Amino acid sequence: MPVELVPKVYWVGAVDWTIRDFHGYRTEAGTTYNAYLILDDKITLIDTVKAEFVPEMLARIAEIVDPEKITYLISNHVEMDHSGGLPQAMAQVKPEKVFCSPRGRAGLRRHYQQDWPFVEVKTGDTLSLGRYHLAFLETPMLHWPDSMMTYLKEEELLFSSDGFGAHLASSERFDDHLPAHPPDYLHQLKKYYANILMPFGSLILQLFKKVADLGLTFKIIAPDHGLIYRRPALVLEAYGKWAEGLPEPKGLVIYDTMWHSTEMLAQALTQGLMDAGVEAQLHHLRRTHLSDIVTEVLDAGLLLLGSPTLNNQMFPTVAAFLTYLKGLQPRNKAAAAFGSYGWSGQAVKLINQELEAMKLKVVHEGFQCQYIPTPEDLAAARALGAHLARGQLVK
Ligand code: FEO
Repeated sequence: MPVELVPKVYWVGAVDWTIRDFHGYRTEAGTTYNAYLILDDKITLIDTVKAEFVPEMLARIAEIVDPEKITYLISNHVEMDHSGGLPQAMAQVKPEKVFCSPRGRAGLRRHYQQDWPFVEVKTGDTLSLGRYHLAFLETPMLHWPDSMMTYLKEEELLFSSDGFGAHLASSERFDDHLPAHPPDYLHQLKKYYANILMPFGSLILQLFKKVADLGLTFKIIAPDHGLIYRRPALVLEAYGKWAEGLPEPKGLVIYDTMWHSTEMLAQALTQGLMDAGVEAQLHHLRRTHLSDIVTEVLDAGLLLLGSPTLNNQMFPTVAAFLTYLKGLQPRNKAAAAFGSYGWSGQAVKLINQELEAMKLKVVHEGFQCQYIPTPEDLAAARALGAHLARGQLVK
């Protein structure tokens, strides 16, 4: 069923209950592709859905109005979870105009090789639908260069595209319909921010400033994934905090291991963090998914990365994690490496190079031991964990 957000504005998207991998991001709670229909003199569809969900979207629209009566289509974002349904939707709906940012137009043309009736819009441009009026807000890199948001002035409703999204499939459409599960939805909001938007904290702060300068206020935020927020203060506050990038007194020990020696060091370091009284987490890279570890990295102040040396390299899972993390450009974090080795011991040095390339604050040259840690090694690792936690996390 379509769901009405405000008079004559409907959610007509699709729920993807079973997706568990979203280009490498573990989506254990599924997701939604939110599209919105505005019934006005100019009937307008905002975004579409992933290609295979177009019949679901069109069926929802058909419960409200004949899809062929849609006059305008707005594409806030080119990525195919939102535009994949465009070719099918365009063939059926045949709108008079397709509104998108200039880079959106270029991106859609590259994706679909179609010369649809595009109209480029920029920040501050407005569009009258009759009773309702829209304003456009370009938001490059949130999440792609083409991204923009669309604001419904009369209802102070922001169609925020990927911004404020969360990968969460649910039968409820609104945040205030989930009173029993707020921690889970906030966790999904955080996971999405960490894995999709972490590199763009400064752009989010700029967006907040632009929004303030334009005098925009939001009663409802309607993203393209997950719930629609009728309590937007909660998500705005969370985004403000994450965008600032200020860490919590929290340390993560992230490692892989061959014969449990690096694991023994990891456990000793974790105990040291706990000795210092900070929040500590230990993550084995073949037991916790990268996207879940990165969720915890978002507000951690100290990262301890452990790897055995395998064929003169760091362990492949550690390299994969560091590659993923580097792309997300974490800020304001201290870090150190550790690991056991047999004879050459390059892993710690290689991890240090990656930490420095990420511009993390490397606070120790790296803790190593040969073969199996002795009780003295473990005591030293524990003491090091406590020392680093007190120095970096305890104010
Ligand atoms: Fe939900 Fe950047 O796409």
